[in-house]
Amino acid sequence: MPQQPARCHDRTPSKRAACTRRSERRWPGRDTATATAPTGTDLHFVRGRCGRLLDHLLYRIGCLAGDVSPGGRERCIGLGYWFYRGQPGAQASFKPAAARGRVVRVQTVWRKVRRRLNFYLVKLEMKIGRERLWSFPYELAIDVTNKCNLHCSYCPTGRGEQGGRGRGSMDLATFRDIIDELGPYAYRVELFNWGEPLFAKDLPEMVAYAEARGVRTIVSSNLSFPLAEDRLRDLVDAGLSYLTAAIDGVDQSSYETYRRGGRFELALNNLRRFVEYKRASGRANPHITWQYLVFAHNEPYVETARAMASEMGVDCFSAIGGLHDDPAWAPSKAYSFDYLQVRGNRCVWLWQKAVFHWDGGFASCCAGFHKKDDFDAYQRGTFRRMWNNEKFRTARRIWTRPESPLPEGHFCSDCDKVRLFRGLPLRSGPASVEREAARGGARR
Ligand SMILES: C[S@@+](CC[C@H](N)C(=O)[O-])C[C@H]1O[C@@H](n2cnc3c(N)ncnc32)[C@H](O)[C@@H]1O
Ligand code: SF4
Ligand code: SF4
Repeated sequence: MPQQPARCHDRTPSKRAACTRRSERRWPGRDTATATAPTGTDLHFVRGRCGRLLDHLLYRIGCLAGDVSPGGRERCIGLGYWFYRGQPGAQASFKPAAARGRVVRVQTVWRKVRRRLNFYLVKLEMKIGRERLWSFPYELAIDVTNKCNLHCSYCPTGRGEQGGRGRGSMDLATFRDIIDELGPYAYRVELFNWGEPLFAKDLPEMVAYAEARGVRTIVSSNLSFPLAEDRLRDLVDAGLSYLTAAIDGVDQSSYETYRRGGRFELALNNLRRFVEYKRASGRANPHITWQYLVFAHNEPYVETARAMASEMGVDCFSAIGGLHDDPAWAPSKAYSFDYLQVRGNRCVWLWQKAVFHWDGGFASCCAGFHKKDDFDAYQRGTFRRMWNNEKFRTARRIWTRPESPLPEGHFCSDCDKVRLFRGLPLRSGPASVEREAARGGARR
């Protein structure tokens, strides 16, 4: 195939010389006369004024859209690439010295723009109170398994309940379908809800699949079980973004009061191994949090745990008020928790976050445990229909039309958040909820 002449060779000798000098500066050692472009999927090339200008403009747009992360310039789109892609004579092997910070990731930028636009659409639809949504949720929670080894007294799984769906783990195909459909709009996915996520066989594959599509993954684990080194490494190497270790004590007795059946030293040691492997592998992720649920019995040890966490080198220590039916469990003061989170007179779950059970059950929010309370069952390619089905629209109406009567038998009608919002008495619910209500609702 004959080679296309570079544009500058049609010009006057002086312009040609200037062009060659510029090119030399950009890509030293490269002969302008034989300049050809990269091809295929190799997104490493921007060249010429046009590409530079577009590159710069899109960089500015990226900055406006909030893409000011380190290396943001490199992540900017360079449409110049498209002028060259697939040109006759293109040399697939040519990679111009990383293009000096003007390298372009077209898809990455488009994904960011799309997510950002959807994010604003969610906010807009929530604010104006739309019940039938155009937007997609920008957060996901996928309960990859409801199996667990512990018996925490406030958790239905810990009490041995199965919610009418049996014990199981989500299969990889269903997980991929959900990520394929919702991943383009979602910033992050929590891979847990009512079980111990590390008991899901395919967890590392799930993490890798979501992360590769730009969806940050979050795992919360009790870590109180023997954890093989390979398993630990696979999870970190898969690119997990956030790991929360739920350890609510500083020794066996303060720990096992709530985490029944758990072994404190084992959990602590596993947490330490995660920290050490992350450090040894030189990775920035996962961001590791020691989460400490505060109850009356372990409240005196919060600062001791904080000191242990700091000494161990975890990234974050988080003391959170634990919920419990028994008022005697309530700690003496408030610790942050978002159970009653309401923003702008809306329950955010119904606009911004989608929750799935391991069997594909589509729940209203993380509180949905029983199969009978599912709002739908996930089927590939049907999300928009499910997201706007009668149950979801009715739930949104509770918030957008506060004067309307609460729908009989609807899952949300029995929710404390709704009751607080409507000025109704709370259910005889968890002590922490009563306390939150007395303090005037949730923060965050
Ligand atoms: C049901 S657990 C499932 C994940 C995992 N098994 C664990 O315990 O971390 C989900 C989250 O709820 C938290 N949690 C458990 N019991 C709680 C309680 N009584 N009050 C508030 N949060 C609780 C856990 O610490 C965890 O972060
Ligand atoms: S470890 Fe997590 S899932 Fe298991 S019983 Fe406790 S809170 Fe529930
Ligand atoms: S049950 Fe409550 S928290 Fe859950 S979606 Fe309905 S209103 Fe929101």
